[in-house]
Amino acid sequence: MKICFVLNGRDVEIEASATTSLLSVLRQQCEIYSVRETCGIGVCGACTALVDGVPISTCIQLAPMAAGCDVVTAEGLAEDDPVVAAFADARAFQCGFCTPGFVLTVKHLLEENPQPTDPESRLALAGNLCRCGSYLNILAAVQRASKEHDP
Ligand code: FES
Ligand code: FES
Repeated sequence: MKICFVLNGRDVEIEASATTSLLSVLRQQCEIYSVRETCGIGVCGACTALVDGVPISTCIQLAPMAAGCDVVTAEGLAEDDPVVAAFADARAFQCGFCTPGFVLTVKHLLEENPQPTDPESRLALAGNLCRCGSYLNILAAVQRASKEHDP
């Protein structure tokens, strides 16, 4: 079936079966490699993309459900994105495998709650796992990025 959506600001039209995951479409047809398959069951957040502004585990999202949606991946962020800068400044990664998913989840968090408390940040990030254990630096990055929202 034909599926049309907006990916990082450009219109895309792909062919996929009704049971193909959005993750497969992004990686195999759209050359989007910041979404990574790790658990494959919606637990780790490594495959996160923003779909209409909401972080989604694309490994368990069927591609047809993205029809007509606005899909954003890490490739679609500006070079000077403040959350990306905060992650770099706080050294909020080691291998970086989990980082795109965390960054997109933090962007959504700060859209919803520009000044999150530490417990609020932890709750928002509960669906993203970092096997390098960079959690404290990631939380520090959230605080740095939230300062960008100060009046
Ligand atoms: S690979 Fe999708 S949540 Fe883990
Ligand atoms: S930085 Fe390696 S998995 Fe998070």
